[in-house]
Amino acid sequence: MTPKSKIKPDLSVTFAGIKLKNPVLTASGTFGYGEEYAEFVDLNKLGGVIVKGISLKPIKGNPPPRIWETPSGMLNAIGLENPGVDVFLDAKVPFLKKYDTAVIVNVFGYSLEEYVGVVERLDDASGIAGLEVNISCPNVKAGGIVFGTNVKAAFELLSAVRKATKLPVIAKLSPNVTDITEFARAARDAGCDGLSLINTLLGMAIDVRCGKPRLANCTGGLSGPAIRPVAVRMVWQAARAVPLPIIGMGGIVTGEDALEFILAGASAVAVGTANFINPRATLDVLEGIEAHLAQQGVSRITDLIGKVETG
Ligand SMILES: Cc1cc2nc3c(=O)[nH]c(=O)nc-3n(C[C@H](O)[C@H](O)[C@H](O)COP(=O)(O)O)c2cc1C
Repeated sequence: MTPKSKIKPDLSVTFAGIKLKNPVLTASGTFGYGEEYAEFVDLNKLGGVIVKGISLKPIKGNPPPRIWETPSGMLNAIGLENPGVDVFLDAKVPFLKKYDTAVIVNVFGYSLEEYVGVVERLDDASGIAGLEVNISCPNVKAGGIVFGTNVKAAFELLSAVRKATKLPVIAKLSPNVTDITEFARAARDAGCDGLSLINTLLGMAIDVRCGKPRLANCTGGLSGPAIRPVAVRMVWQAARAVPLPIIGMGGIVTGEDALEFILAGASAVAVGTANFINPRATLDVLEGIEAHLAQQGVSRITDLIGKVETG
């Protein structure tokens, strides 16, 4: 009999038609455009790179302070700073194309038309495996309602995006809702090919000495290990509600953290805040998954997807 530790597990997964050599991706906004981390991480080893959010026009972002460390997490209010889709295509995609890894582009806008505009620009570009649509933005045309927390607005937005591209569309859901399954169903009904969850939880921290918020923006998005149980719970709920494949994220630091998401129903995982503490976090997660599978005698990662035993 082969000792369990000698088994080399098959980590490959097909996600929404995208072939991934392993399920470990980078969470948008925490790994730049890949280039920023390439001296620490061989990008060829990653299942994929989900890049920082891209909009139709460049965005400067919020004034500092934009980051505040919290117990087991951080608050950020970067304000979706990015160079815009044209600079992204000219200056960032050529670098990423040199690597054998799936490039997933995170997109956003402040109106339905802006989302459609950026998606149309990306549709003809080569080297892009799929789109992750960040719906956690206020719709300025509809009085600032946040697409990601209004089911009807989310459905209309995702339907329009779905029609505007041939690429796989992955809806990135906001956790700042009462019932995540309503939004998972809206994404399915809009024709999306997959889900990504969770984005950051809305939070706030105050400096009691001067009585001012820690972030210039007052509120920010909470990420890191503090949010992991919320994220695992939402992935589990979404996976039971719809048959779409899910990229699970929220506080993943180790291989075991990632496997919680896989057992809850995710087909792939994304490593976010951990990259700021340890630039090689993605590789540590990958090695941890591989070691766990080998040790448990599991030959394929796909055998574990959604296999949490809830009785
Ligand atoms: C500094 C920072 C910037 C982020 N930027 C984006 C972004 O541009 N688009 C997006 O969809 N999510 C963005 N996120 C959310 C992450 O992709 C991820 O969903 C979230 O942080 C939870 O994962 P984590 O706890 O592993 O960081 C950002 C998160 C952080 C911490």
